[in-house]
Amino acid sequence: MQIPDIIIAVDGYSSTGKSSFAKQIAKEFGFTYLDSGALYRGVTLFAMENGFIDDDCKIDVEALDAALKGLDLHFGPQGTYIGSRCIESRIRSLDVASKVSPIATVPQIRSFVDGKLREAGSRKRVVMDGRDIGTTVFPDAELKLFMTADPLVRAQRRAAEMASKGDVASLDEVLRNLQERDYIDSHRETSPLTQAPDAIVLDNSNMTPAQQMDWLKEIISDKFGC
Ligand code: CDP
Repeated sequence: MQIPDIIIAVDGYSSTGKSSFAKQIAKEFGFTYLDSGALYRGVTLFAMENGFIDDDCKIDVEALDAALKGLDLHFGPQGTYIGSRCIESRIRSLDVASKVSPIATVPQIRSFVDGKLREAGSRKRVVMDGRDIGTTVFPDAELKLFMTADPLVRAQRRAAEMASKGDVASLDEVLRNLQERDYIDSHRETSPLTQAPDAIVLDNSNMTPAQQMDWLKEIISDKFGC
């Protein structure tokens, strides 16, 4: 299937499989996949390692904002990097996950990440996943999906994914983390997680990856006549 040069925004709740689906879409149509959450996770790790956030998630916003100017956070061959250091597996840990949503409430951090995302999407043919891609980062994206799934199904998937990487966390801990993040993400003042009015909802609680792709192809063929 040949599709036009568009931006596909995939937003939704934590651990609904946005990144797996976005990667699957990118592969299918030859698009570039961009993981906006990885940049928030990267800023979180940077803040943790440099003392800009404490154990109670108190953030020194002024100092962190000043330090962002010198932060070389970018996508590379193995995922996300700070300078030449690959931080991909480090940013997926539960300690980073437990601090990322407070970090993502800070407007200065959001505009730092937005700048990087808009630059990366300027040539179209990208599929980007996150919380505010279709509402704030690319409000004119030609195709917007909003993903949701049953919380327990989501926690089970995430716990299994972590276990497969040797990262041990109880189902309870994972469920609590994703519910906390959903709450903070939906209630923050700047760019909260909300469904764009023109987004199409996908509840994939009971869907396989192949079924998701069939569902999407039908939508694309209706919308773009291809
Ligand atoms: O774990 P999951 O894949 O669901 O989340 P993620 O995409 O890695 O994003 C981690 C966190 O970054 C989210 O819980 C949000 O707090 C924040 N985020 C955001 O605020 N806006 C985005 N566009 C992407 C992520």
